[in-house]
Amino acid sequence: MRGVFITLEGADGCGKTTQATLVAAALEARGREVVRLREPGGTPISEKVRALLLDPANAEMVPECELLLYEASRAQLVRQVIEPALERGACVLCDRYYDSTFAYQAGGRGLDETLVRQSNVLGSCGRVPDRTLVLDLDPALGFARATAGGVDRMEAEGLAFQERVRNAYLRLASEEPSRVRLVDASGKKEEVTARVLAALDDLWGE
Ligand code: TMP
Repeated sequence: MRGVFITLEGADGCGKTTQATLVAAALEARGREVVRLREPGGTPISEKVRALLLDPANAEMVPECELLLYEASRAQLVRQVIEPALERGACVLCDRYYDSTFAYQAGGRGLDETLVRQSNVLGSCGRVPDRTLVLDLDPALGFARATAGGVDRMEAEGLAFQERVRNAYLRLASEEPSRVRLVDASGKKEEVTARVLAALDDLWGE
């Protein structure tokens, strides 16, 4: 079996993490080895970088520092975990990847898009997902869900930021329709899982 690289994306509170669990179980039931990862994170170094990025105490962090930390965390994850997993034929299911950087650092923060795209090439070591699913939900709903238990440094940016993030995702889906698919994330979680699995169907050409 060839390795398959799938990424899940969306604004905060869109239900990605719940869907990653349900989709991983469905793929495992079909006999696939599934490696579940999250970004930033997934290696000891990347988890330390995650803590720096999300700590509300780091309110003084400048956008360029933020961008480079997300890329640094990613490069470590790609080389240490994602590439070896794909080489042995696993299905890698990653909760966020470089489209988050486009949506949050270019869309949300307003960093130069070309610069962010170039940084993404470096941070991903050139590794492009086979399929990216953007779980699309009304940002007000997602934001309320994400912040119910307190806010991290990114969520502290507020609802207008999340709306810019969502618009950037919508643009990505229209620019790269064969890789990036929008999935309606409203409704019951089982219904969303069925939509997610349907959006992956053409990948299993074994
Ligand atoms: P999450 O794991 O709960 O989704 O939190 C990660 C946060 O970091 C979330 O607010 C999205 C943000 N983020 C970026 O701003 N840029 C990135 O490249 C990634 C991977 C995440």
